[in-house]
Amino acid sequence: MPPAEISPFFAAHATALRAAAELGPVLDLACGRGRHALAAAAAGARVVALDRSIPFLEELRRDAAARSLPVACVRADLEGGAQIPFASARLGAVLVFRYLWRPLSEPLADLLRAGGLLLYETFTIHQRDLPHGPGNAAFLLDDGELPKLFPELEVVDFREEAREDADGRRWHLASLAARRPAR
Ligand SMILES: C[S@@+](CC[C@H](N)C(=O)[O-])C[C@H]1O[C@@H](n2cnc3c(N)ncnc32)[C@H](O)[C@@H]1O
Repeated sequence: MPPAEISPFFAAHATALRAAAELGPVLDLACGRGRHALAAAAAGARVVALDRSIPFLEELRRDAAARSLPVACVRADLEGGAQIPFASARLGAVLVFRYLWRPLSEPLADLLRAGGLLLYETFTIHQRDLPHGPGNAAFLLDDGELPKLFPELEVVDFREEAREDADGRRWHLASLAARRPAR
């Protein structure tokens, strides 16, 4: 399970995310329990949170309602052919944390308005050296791969690092902030 706390990379780009959210809604893809969906909504964004897990979405819906935060929850299986429910160039920002499905990268970039922001952070191949986390290479990034998945976006920040969560578990992560240039 991902940690409950927000990613430091998300926190580092919170100001840019707030500005991007003025361009349009923010999509949290494979949102899980919605740690970033809730944080984005608390910062003033209109958020759509998508996941295939009904229990996670129900928990998120309850949390958002309890805090009166504008988070719309959508259930979809992204690897089962489900379409992301937005047309081209509608979103202010897309968030993807700890999830990888490479065929989505081109459609995701296309959802962003000019000036829109992508924040993407997930595991690299080095996670296989540790006893926890995903071990299947299909769900792990190669070194330097993440920005290459989004050739039409301008890189704002890219990092590859090992990080410890508050519970002491160690993760090998790549993190990308990238912007959609004018079309
Ligand atoms: C490691 S969790 C990350 C959750 C959240 N992004 C975070 O960082 O807290 C991965 C999430 O991807 C979702 N997921 C996995 N396969 C999916 C699929 N085919 N379609 C939609 N969501 C999927 C899981 O349900 C889970 O919530």
